[in-house]
Amino acid sequence: MVTVGIAGATGKLGRLVAAALLRLPSPPTLRLYVRDANKLPSWLSSAATVITGEADDRAAALKFAQGCSVIICTYLGPDQLMEDGQKVLIDACAEAGVPRYVASDYTVDYRPLKDGELFPKDPMRHVYQYCQEKQGVEGVHVMIGAFMDTWWSSFFGAWAPHEDGKGGTLRYWGNGDEVWEVSSYENTAEWIARVAVDEGVKGVVKFLGDRKNIHEIAAAMKAVYGFTPALEPLGSAADLHAAMHAKRDADPANYYAYLPMWYQYYMLNGSTLLVPHGADADKELMNKKYPDVKVVGYEEYMKMYSPKELSGAMMGVGEKAGL
Ligand SMILES: NC(=O)c1ccc[n+]([C@@H]2O[C@H](COP(=O)([O-])OP(=O)(O)OC[C@H]3O[C@@H](n4cnc5c(N)ncnc54)[C@H](OP(=O)(O)O)[C@@H]3O)[C@@H](O)[C@H]2O)c1
Repeated sequence: MVTVGIAGATGKLGRLVAAALLRLPSPPTLRLYVRDANKLPSWLSSAATVITGEADDRAAALKFAQGCSVIICTYLGPDQLMEDGQKVLIDACAEAGVPRYVASDYTVDYRPLKDGELFPKDPMRHVYQYCQEKQGVEGVHVMIGAFMDTWWSSFFGAWAPHEDGKGGTLRYWGNGDEVWEVSSYENTAEWIARVAVDEGVKGVVKFLGDRKNIHEIAAAMKAVYGFTPALEPLGSAADLHAAMHAKRDADPANYYAYLPMWYQYYMLNGSTLLVPHGADADKELMNKKYPDVKVVGYEEYMKMYSPKELSGAMMGVGEKAGL
């Protein structure tokens, strides 16, 4: 019997992953590691063994790891959580004989980056290295680009719907030819669930819901909603680089004001693409290994929301499915 441990199960992705695991034809046994069990929805706490503990509690983490076939981490928080908190879990895997650890990545391919470039990914790159060196535990790193839900959000800043709900503006940096690689939270959870119970899967695995440039996204909007959004160029990639540094230098504490610009820059400059320029998407991506996952591209995603709802859909992730 496969036993899957999830650390961070109270979060948006953690809950979706748990639900996806429970929907599998042979659902695994679930163990959850949380700091506050009261935050778990009843459908989840009643379907799993819950172990409570803080991210730095080595004894509790070891108790959680006992008997797991694999541990999935879906933490999201400060660098210390993403690096030290994950290392506590990896150490617990090694001590408890858990052979695989699915790292809390679910993002762009951060491997070519250097420290300080796309800085929120520094802890993930360090954890990737830690897994490479750790004896007895294989890291599994699920790369999915940006979350589709995040790409459309007002936080990301690319989509500005009109108040009347009948149109809007797509705002973009770069020359407009750059592809935006995205996957929905829901698809990501489905892929994580399959990878978790597929014990031969190790190392970096890449999946994508879609990859389109801004003109193709505008065309998809026309196809789904019947209107062509306005396109507002904001400047070149070099302009974005200057603007994001200026914004951070002016007010470093105002993290969420400049963070999306950093993501946009390191996506549009091509350095973190899952399918690098000239590469064959079918060879890079593992989508076809799990054909039962119904892939949600830009158009399929838009069909689930009105143009106005798109910008707030990220906040309601899981709600549509009652999770
Ligand atoms: N590619 C993208 O565009 C993108 C966008 C967003 C997220 N992600 C990735 O998706 C994953 C999860 O994101 P999410 O949206 O599901 O995050 P979320 O909803 O904010 O959930 C975060 C989880 O981390 C836990 N956590 C936070 N601080 C903690 C601490 N100090 N100690 C222990 N647990 C702590 C939370 O527990 P509590 O409930 O107790 O707070 C919660 O379970 C992360 O790997 C993140 O990098 C990717």
